[in-house]
Amino acid sequence: MSFQAPKGTFDWLPPQSDRILAVRETLVEAVRRAGYGYIETPTFEDTDLFKRGVGESTDVVTKEMYTFEDKGGRSITLRPEGTASVVRAVLQHSLQNAGQLPVKLWYSGSQYRYERAQKGRYRHFWQVGAEALGAEDPALDAELILLAWQGFAAVGLKRVTLLLNSLGDKNCRPAYRAALVEFLRKLDLDEATRARIEINPLRVLDDKRPDVQAKLAGAPLAVDHLCEACKAYHEEVRALLTALGVPFTDDPKLVRGLDYYTRTAFEFVHDGLGAQASVGGGGRYDGLSEQIGGPSLPSVGWALGVDRTFLAMEAEGLLDDLTSQRVEVYGVPLGEDARRRLFLLVNELRQAGVSADMAFGGKGVKAAMKGADRSGARFALILGERDLAAEAVQLKDLTTGDQTEVPLAQVVEVLKGKLQ
Ligand code: HAM
Repeated sequence: MSFQAPKGTFDWLPPQSDRILAVRETLVEAVRRAGYGYIETPTFEDTDLFKRGVGESTDVVTKEMYTFEDKGGRSITLRPEGTASVVRAVLQHSLQNAGQLPVKLWYSGSQYRYERAQKGRYRHFWQVGAEALGAEDPALDAELILLAWQGFAAVGLKRVTLLLNSLGDKNCRPAYRAALVEFLRKLDLDEATRARIEINPLRVLDDKRPDVQAKLAGAPLAVDHLCEACKAYHEEVRALLTALGVPFTDDPKLVRGLDYYTRTAFEFVHDGLGAQASVGGGGRYDGLSEQIGGPSLPSVGWALGVDRTFLAMEAEGLLDDLTSQRVEVYGVPLGEDARRRLFLLVNELRQAGVSADMAFGGKGVKAAMKGADRSGARFALILGERDLAAEAVQLKDLTTGDQTEVPLAQVVEVLKGKLQ
């Protein structure tokens, strides 16, 4: 019997794994330049945090959480998303009182959802996220949307579309919800969807089935039921995005899968991903803090799916030149004394900032040279007994095949020069 990674999960291996590290970093460069601070929260929390934060009627909470009882009898859930944890941490440490508002934070980490696994939809996936807590200002919504947009641009993506909507707030949402429920109840829908109308009518709008979508034509839309304050807020967000040169598409049917959204809701979709097109999403969540027992803390944020971003990059041909250069220099020892000397030399190179490796396991010269090729190194350092006696080493350029003798005392400097 051999073990496999659990269903819906996979391993990141070289050379892709090097690129995924770079993608995670690049996506948040703009956020860090904008003064957001890094936050790391546990990968598991009290189950109630997500029930109350994300919403009891969401698919995430009802179907997708990895929940278990720990040995102390507590109900624990592997985090399905990052926002509830960030708000919990802010409240726990009273960051909202510690300095200037908004509190601006970013994060990067694993998320867990028991979803039907398919390409682009995993049970373990990675998000980078940014949240700005404690301010109600359309400029903040626009700033965050811009920063996500810049993140996708920084990794080279060109085929990302921004969808934008407003879901209203606690003043106008109830009347809209009532109008929507009234409309939906009159439709001929299946049992499960009818049940959903009563629990979470907005989610019905998000049904992807074409026959259901056809029935939804003419459904009341949130944008048409916004109160004056929400309407003005939304218009200002749109105006700022236009001024920033961020193109967007108004999508009055956009509802998000998590219950905490108020006003601004947005999603970034990519045309190369099929059904799992959403590479990122977010919005304003003015009531979340109160839902989990905190003070009023109007906030806005997003999370970008790193795995899907990678798939989108693949679809755009941005990963075609994925090479596996592990190191720049590779050592090939001939004989025991040479092996010991080369071991020290490789360490000297690393300390001088040159990435280097060597043949281990007592390999012969042929196998060691093969190792040099496989490592992707530009140079091999070949050290034999005779070289050792002459205090020199053979430096082989693996691209051209040229070989020169370099004094051992100078080889670090010579290589540094050549690799610049
Ligand atoms: P979300 O839309 O559930 O939002 O997830 C954000 C992104 O994570 C998605 O657009 C997608 O790229 C990625 N993602 C979600 N589920 C999966 C999956 N099963 N496999 C692979 N990728 C996935 C949130 O999580 C909110 N916390 C975003 C937010 C932050 N809203 C306000 N602040």
